[in-house]
Amino acid sequence: MDSLAPRANVARAIAAAKTLLGDRVSTAPAVREQHGKDQTWNAGAAPDAVAFVNSTEEVQALVKICAGEKVPVIAYGTGTSLEGHFAAVNGGISIDLSGMNCILEVNSEDQDCRVEAGVTRKALNAHLRDQGLMFPIDPGADASLGGMAATRASGTNAVRYGTMRENVMGLTVVLADGRVIRTGTRARKSSAGYDLTRLLVGSEGTLGIITEVQLRLYGIPEALKAGVMGFPSVEACCRTVIETIQLGVPMARIELVDAETIKAINAYSKLSMPAAPHLFVEFHGTPAGVAEQAGQFADIAQGHGAGAISWASTEEERARLWQARHDVFWATKSLMPGKEAFATDVCVPISRLAECVVETQKDLAESRIYGPIVGHVGDGNFHVTLYCDRADAGEVARVKGAYGRMIERALSMGGTCTGEHGIGSGKRAYLAREHGEGVEVMRQIKLALDPDNIMNPGKNAGP
Ligand code: LAC
Ligand code: ZN
Repeated sequence: MDSLAPRANVARAIAAAKTLLGDRVSTAPAVREQHGKDQTWNAGAAPDAVAFVNSTEEVQALVKICAGEKVPVIAYGTGTSLEGHFAAVNGGISIDLSGMNCILEVNSEDQDCRVEAGVTRKALNAHLRDQGLMFPIDPGADASLGGMAATRASGTNAVRYGTMRENVMGLTVVLADGRVIRTGTRARKSSAGYDLTRLLVGSEGTLGIITEVQLRLYGIPEALKAGVMGFPSVEACCRTVIETIQLGVPMARIELVDAETIKAINAYSKLSMPAAPHLFVEFHGTPAGVAEQAGQFADIAQGHGAGAISWASTEEERARLWQARHDVFWATKSLMPGKEAFATDVCVPISRLAECVVETQKDLAESRIYGPIVGHVGDGNFHVTLYCDRADAGEVARVKGAYGRMIERALSMGGTCTGEHGIGSGKRAYLAREHGEGVEVMRQIKLALDPDNIMNPGKNAGP
């Protein structure tokens, strides 16, 4: 990794940024710190300044200033990523895109839209609701769509609707040399040239700064049915999921929530579920289709010892259920004051899911670690949040050991070190383990587009 940019260059870049944006450039310590540290264990690093931008042209002008001074630029949306993505490890200027919050167009006949990068997923859905449309990708937080594209985010609906990989049709991106490119079209498919959209989705700000996103949309289903049920074990939950997916039941959501997380949710979200592993499920379709899917699923679940399914009877109850699921990070964190969250995320082929989760649980018990498990298990994706007291060297060693073994286990099963949280600075050690020589190819692409390494240095596959 490069060292910090020379102070004189940083000072000149900040002065030029202030000439451009006036008091929309801040060097206040609290603003800088908030733009350099996520909610997890990952080390933070404050940028030298934060620039609040309103347009692609402003991003372009800032990037040109920083390129001239070889000063890093780090894109910032809502700060809700979990792998140290926006820590300014080499200093530089954080570009806060939250002010770029215009929904530029909605084409209801084609079911697509174009938004500025700072629009959040909830703001987009509020705007779309009257037209009977939705954008289903839902990482727990109300993240910005530019950030979600940059991190290739997913969430609870990915089992049915895919991730940002499937749902970004095109992008506007400011490159390291200040060029602005527009990738993709509004056509649903294209075989024209290299797929720059997919190269940039998941590039975590290391290849360019995303300022606009073209997205696929979906009609709000005529019927939605959500429910929860307890199981005798996490293994029984996973076996139910595997069978459901293998039989092709078109689940819209199928989420594992382990007993520890249920206890935390009950306290945090004022619910009263029995302290057992649960599946949270949802079906989308016509009323008849939904009833059929729910029946098929209930038969499978009962075959694995599930208790009665408690269905959400109103839209409010359904929304409350998913909000409780989305808040699990905060729910478990509030039970562990003084500890830091080592958020993990692995993903395996569905047939290996039960084995991977069960072996991980056994490892956590043997390692005496509080590590609640939730997962987007229809995708073979699960999270363990390992809580750790940084001052307790023994606990730190146990947590790091279990963390490394969990990733090795997923890789050995044909899986990935991250299904949705990304690499950031937190998981760089595992990229080569997963991709081998492929990481060198990624590095060549990075250096071809950003030879001075100013775009979010120290992240993902970049130096
Ligand atoms: C979740 C986030 C943490 O699934 O990925 O809750
Ligand atoms: Zn998740």
